[in-house]
Amino acid sequence: MIADSGAHNRRIMIESAAMNGDTINREELEKLLAETESSLRERVGELPTLVVQTGSGVSLAASAETEIEYASIPHFPVPSAAGHAGMLRVVKDAPHPFVHLWGRAHYYAGQPGWKLGLPFRVLHRLGVRNAVFISATGAINETFAGGDIMLIDDFINFTAVNPLRGIAGEGGMMEFPAMRVILDSGMADMAEKAARTAGVALRRGVYAMSSGPAYETIAELNALRALGADAVGMSTVPELMTARALDMRTCALALITNNPMESTPTHDDVIAGARRAQSTVERWFNELLREFARTGL
Ligand code: HPA
Repeated sequence: MIADSGAHNRRIMIESAAMNGDTINREELEKLLAETESSLRERVGELPTLVVQTGSGVSLAASAETEIEYASIPHFPVPSAAGHAGMLRVVKDAPHPFVHLWGRAHYYAGQPGWKLGLPFRVLHRLGVRNAVFISATGAINETFAGGDIMLIDDFINFTAVNPLRGIAGEGGMMEFPAMRVILDSGMADMAEKAARTAGVALRRGVYAMSSGPAYETIAELNALRALGADAVGMSTVPELMTARALDMRTCALALITNNPMESTPTHDDVIAGARRAQSTVERWFNELLREFARTGL
């Protein structure tokens, strides 16, 4: 018995080591994915084929048929920052139905890339094939102002960590996933059309993800500008890369909440900036859903 419990304790230690690092062994990940999948299957019926993930104070007013706290879904990464709810909502009463991941967990809070990607891997198993991301960013492009919205044409992963390390190549995921195209061209056309119909200006540009939690130094901001970034944020890239590695169609929108080149950012400013952009985002998003419904996803 004593020998058994020693072996058991060692196993717990090995498991937690495997789960706490930047990567996880594949058998363990498979086990977690299966548990999350079966828990969701029990609680939600057939899911829409579209997922929309929003962060930092961005809510989508649509009423939800089902709402499940992330904390009650096994292994779901739970947001820690103020302004981030944590709720999976199934929205059917909208121009196009969608799964709303309301609030996101972050790399800066210590979450490893595989965990940030886990909801997308599970949703993919449940039939979700299209993903829209909405996040807060600081402007780097000097022509951008707070309250603007920018369609993310491309990104620079400025974190030096690849969220797919150790876990690509299994469970429907490509082994060496291409990231040349992270904005689906059909979705980009629909995003542009939605902006025109909603009467909102849609910027286009390159998103840089910095790891956070510290905001960037002035030298880093200048470096990002020289590298071709138009906006900087601390999220989205891990989830977007996971979705692309699963060959989902993806489209990401950045809200310009502050201008770090001109003034020192604070989290309160970012939340307030997201609120300022809220009505623009909602108008654009509702038209985007209409386009999805009209053209078919
Ligand atoms: N820097 C990094 N991330 C951000 C910013 C910023 O200025 N604003 C919103 N997210």
